[in-house]
Amino acid sequence: MVMSKTVLISGGSSGIGFTISRYFANAGYKLLWVSLLKEEITAATIQLQNEIPDCEINSVVQDLSLSNAAQKVYDWIQENQWNVDVLINNAGFGTYGFINDTDSERELNMIDVNIINLYKMTRFFLKDMIAINKGTIINISSNSSFQPTPKLSTYGATKSFVNHFTRSVNEELKMQNSNVKVICVCPSAIKDTNFKKAGKMENVKTFNGLAATTAEEVAKDVWNGFIKGKSFIVSGWKMRMLYRVSGMIPYKVQQFLVRKEIKEVH
Ligand SMILES: NC(=O)c1ccc[n+]([C@@H]2O[C@H](COP(=O)([O-])OP(=O)(O)OC[C@H]3O[C@@H](n4cnc5c(N)ncnc54)[C@H](OP(=O)(O)O)[C@@H]3O)[C@@H](O)[C@H]2O)c1
Repeated sequence: MVMSKTVLISGGSSGIGFTISRYFANAGYKLLWVSLLKEEITAATIQLQNEIPDCEINSVVQDLSLSNAAQKVYDWIQENQWNVDVLINNAGFGTYGFINDTDSERELNMIDVNIINLYKMTRFFLKDMIAINKGTIINISSNSSFQPTPKLSTYGATKSFVNHFTRSVNEELKMQNSNVKVICVCPSAIKDTNFKKAGKMENVKTFNGLAATTAEEVAKDVWNGFIKGKSFIVSGWKMRMLYRVSGMIPYKVQQFLVRKEIKEVH
């Protein structure tokens, strides 16, 4: 397989990142992964190369909550003289609970990964893409960005940042007649990734609720949206339907439904 293009995916070795990797690898992209856990990267690399023998994967272990993480990732790319055609800022996690009960250190760590790192990575790679007038950045947000999310207050707020920032930057690119695109993806709650376990949300109703989806459906939506040149992707067909009619649902009713969805069920 001739590797003509390169995609850099944070959190590429698990969940949505891994499932999206499969689509890009099948299309002949070289994969560059940045994740936290070495063993997980090793296992994921073996799995994907068994599925797609010609696929090339290069990876680096990096804690993306550290203030110099984006610089280190950028330096790794420069040292290896890779051109990043597509950057997917996917790494992220959530915390669950009433704000007075959640661990503030963990939440600050989440802000560092979900906001600060995504912001810095976008700036580093966007600059180079603008210089050659080519490239795509895909930022993974969440349906939690659409409305107030009790018990996910800080997580939802980090994803609201991702939405606002990504969509605004994409408008700036249009104003500059640039060929570079920045895509915002809002997946619904996903049943089958590590996200809910990592955030101690295994019993939260939404992961089996109204609009729950799977990593495969999200990856397919991202790939199709990328190919079609979309700039905003609401992922999961049930969430897409709800999103379309949400403007007609009174705020009080929306929040009543959100409070139900966000409860733990035993
Ligand atoms: N699952 C959902 O319901 C849902 C819904 C909407 C949006 N999202 C968003 O989708 C994205 C992917 O989540 P997922 O569902 O695929 O869950 P996941 O399997 O837990 O994936 C999260 C990825 O982020 C990486 N990561 C987390 N903290 C990191 C750090 N400090 N440094 C480096 N990498 C770090 C993880 O790396 P390691 O595995 O190596 O730790 C992992 O690969 C996240 O941004 C999440 O907010 C998820």
